[in-house]
Amino acid sequence: MKALDRIAVEGGTPLEGTVRVHGAKNAALPILAATLLAEGVCVVEDVPDLQDIRVMVDILRALGASVDYSPPVVRVDARRISRTEVPEELMRQMRSSIFLMGPLLARYCHARVSRPGGCTIGSRPIDLHLKGLAALGASIDEVHGYIDCQTRRLHGAAIYLDTPSVGATENLMMAAVLAEGTTVIGNAAREPEIVDLANFLNRLGARVEGAGEDTLVISGVQGLIGGRYAIIPDRIVAGTLAIAVSMTGGDVTLENVRPNHLGAVLTKLREGGVEIETGRDIMRVRSDGKLRAVEQVRTAPYPGFPTDLQAPFMALLSVAPGMSIVAETVFEERFKHVSELCRMGANIRVDLRTAFVQGVPRLTGAVVQASDLRAGAALVLAGLVAEGTTVVEQAHHIDRGYQQFDEMLRGLGARVRRLSQS
Ligand code: UD1
Repeated sequence: MKALDRIAVEGGTPLEGTVRVHGAKNAALPILAATLLAEGVCVVEDVPDLQDIRVMVDILRALGASVDYSPPVVRVDARRISRTEVPEELMRQMRSSIFLMGPLLARYCHARVSRPGGCTIGSRPIDLHLKGLAALGASIDEVHGYIDCQTRRLHGAAIYLDTPSVGATENLMMAAVLAEGTTVIGNAAREPEIVDLANFLNRLGARVEGAGEDTLVISGVQGLIGGRYAIIPDRIVAGTLAIAVSMTGGDVTLENVRPNHLGAVLTKLREGGVEIETGRDIMRVRSDGKLRAVEQVRTAPYPGFPTDLQAPFMALLSVAPGMSIVAETVFEERFKHVSELCRMGANIRVDLRTAFVQGVPRLTGAVVQASDLRAGAALVLAGLVAEGTTVVEQAHHIDRGYQQFDEMLRGLGARVRRLSQS
């Protein structure tokens, strides 16, 4: 997992076998932040072994919590916290540390974080987080790149999010659980990770209603207890694997998945000619590798097509005969993979936030750069069907979201190697 890591892929092998999907990073991160709210010990199970999780564990420790981390289980005792300032060097390593603000403010009436920078997929503002916390009674000062929030005690409020931001919904939910009175969050995000966080908080004694719908009602309680909780399976990892099998052809059973979290993706895969059978927590994907273009893929907040699967799906469409259109509506700069796919022979034209993908008969191996996590996964997928060898540089980005991606694919018969340099 070093910055110089590269992944080499030899194309042309169908994927076969069974794979267990790990727990969801995007559910585990807010849930670990939320352990700061508890006056007892929390044991969180099925936490993936990923760099962002280790950063979150380091942050909890830096704040004074006692944390045992033996993947996939994290045990957090946050009864005694010694600091309410998130160290800048840790904050810089992970954008998601922004949602430590909600729990710190709720329980300790103070939080200081550094403003997260932009990233390669867009500017990623935090105005909705800050406006919401202010509505709950926090006073917020921004000085020299730091955000300092304090309150005598948070109180319930009616909040409306201009856009259904996942992070803002989570941050405000965590702040509101200990606020005095009732908070209503309108136009809330509805992602399964929101529901998981609400279930975790409710397990600890919170009163969050409406998770998974567009209005959340949170009745503040005096305190939360500890508890044990298992994270939901990672729908983006499951979706990436399903797309991979669809491209290479083959027959793969995914275990520990929630097909009902992947509605939009499975619909598009079926439209592309893939056979998918689903059970409650299992899914079988079969493909002969002969794909059809799909008319339109439009990313949107859940239950729409997830922006995190846009790049992997574009890798698939690049070899699906016909013209497909991909519209990215969530992040403004999420087409960095296009130029790299084109280096491999894809025929894609971008006009602002829409990509026109003309499927080509084959891709050719090349040396390509992973600009971010999902773009990196997309390039590995492209390599699986390309002629010859593809080398994906900056592969450490992929390790931020997929636990041992290369090993996972090798287990299904792919010819994938990690080339590490010390
Ligand atoms: C989360 C996910 C990320 C996913 C994204 C969208 C985590 C750790 N990350 O990111 O993988 O791609 O949801 O599904 O869960 N926005 C504002 N103001 C704000 C906050 C957001 O304008 O204060 C905008 C963003 O610029 C973006 C849109 O809202 O255009 C969605 O962002 P958001 O849902 O907040 O994404 P994250 O929570 O950062």
